[in-house]
Amino acid sequence: MTSDSLKPEITVHTQPEVSALAELVWPTYREAFGGFPNMQSFQSELLGRHAAREGFRLVTASVAGEVVGFSWGYIGHRGQFWTELVSEALPHDVVEEWVGGHFEFAEMAVSPSFRRRGLGAFLHDHLLTDVGRRCLLSTVDDPNDPAVRLYRRAGWQRLGVLKSGTQVMGRHAETPLLTLVRQDPT
Ligand SMILES: CC(C)(COP(=O)(O)OP(=O)(O)OC[C@H]1O[C@@H](n2cnc3c(N)ncnc32)[C@H](O)[C@@H]1OP(=O)(O)O)[C@@H](O)C(=O)NCCC(=O)NCCS
Repeated sequence: MTSDSLKPEITVHTQPEVSALAELVWPTYREAFGGFPNMQSFQSELLGRHAAREGFRLVTASVAGEVVGFSWGYIGHRGQFWTELVSEALPHDVVEEWVGGHFEFAEMAVSPSFRRRGLGAFLHDHLLTDVGRRCLLSTVDDPNDPAVRLYRRAGWQRLGVLKSGTQVMGRHAETPLLTLVRQDPT
């Protein structure tokens, strides 16, 4: 599929629809991240597990029924696997301020032929619309990485190192969104 004349349709999904969506999201996820041998393990070990969490939402960008980009997240709490890793890695005062009851920006990817036209920023903003709380994510610790550039533009700040090569970023609740007041992706 080429991207030039096609405008993605943006949809925000919540829990009940997710099992049906895993099949659609999986090709773009696999292309961006790999990590799972097949769609079933992606669904049961990642998407389905996250979908069971409080405040889960998944944003998809679709063209002709095919998902070409997605983002998802949920409300994170102390005691969960990732929040405990973060709590062990970051200084105590940072953990006190940021971790627990935050919105966890879990995953985002755009299919290569749809990149660099604002879709990532649009998926970011749709995921965070009305979230109204502190947000956390972990990502590669490289200021030149495309995702990190996007997050920095969107007001995320580096909070510390999760492990070698991986940073934790945080975003205050009141930070303005990037795109939604401006325009749709071109
Ligand atoms: C990170 C990712 C989602 C960004 O998606 P994207 O759709 O390319 O994002 P955007 O288009 O909003 O922004 C990317 C760049 O395109 C530029 N851009 C946006 N609209 C543009 C347009 N109309 N014309 C030209 N450039 C444009 C942005 O300014 C930005 O440039 P910069 O990196 O120099 O700052 C995508 O690169 C990806 O899927 N990467 C692999 C997965 C990944 O790393 N996910 C994050 C894990 S935490």
